[in-house]
Amino acid sequence: MTLNEKIIRYSYLVTVVFLVLTGFGQMPIFKRYHVADIPGLGWLAQFYVTHAMHYIFAALFIAICTYAYVDHILDGRKERTLTKTGYAKSFMIAGLILTGVLMVIKNFSGTPYTPLMISLLDISHLLLCITFVVYGIITLVTGTRWVRVRAFQLSNKL
Ligand code: HEM
Repeated sequence: MTLNEKIIRYSYLVTVVFLVLTGFGQMPIFKRYHVADIPGLGWLAQFYVTHAMHYIFAALFIAICTYAYVDHILDGRKERTLTKTGYAKSFMIAGLILTGVLMVIKNFSGTPYTPLMISLLDISHLLLCITFVVYGIITLVTGTRWVRVRAFQLSNKL
């Protein structure tokens, strides 16, 4: 990987870890299960802290993903093509960003969302989060990649 690719990859991983932490921090679980009692982790029980951090990392997540996709479309795809895993994760990311943005709008006062829509948004964001994390761990362990080098590029490299 080039230095640039390494920076993108590790910023992406750190951002996802903090999105998961601060996302679950929106629910009162870290206090209930005493995780927030661990020295240095008290902030996980502070709703407004985890809420603000979730927004900050969400913005970073959108920036990193947009950069990676635009780079792939403008340049990367000459040499590489998305694998099934790459497509699956792309759809999950699109779903997380879409439901996330709609929930940000939900938090604006006066947004005319019905209670059903709010529950559906919340449940779909949470289910996408869990699927994304479990699938991410599986592909990390199995070493399944997002992209593969195009055949003709391989022959050029050999
Ligand atoms: C890897 C990406 C992400 C993960 C793993 C994630 C995870 C979560 C989780 C677990 C929750 C709590 C759901 C609940 O209370 O039932 C949550 C809530 C939320 N997320 Fe995300 N999220 C991600 C990306 C985003 C993005 C990109 C945005 C915005 C563009 C976003 C905006 C929100 C909002 C607004 C809430 C609800 C906060 C509230 O009003 O209670 N999330 N997220």
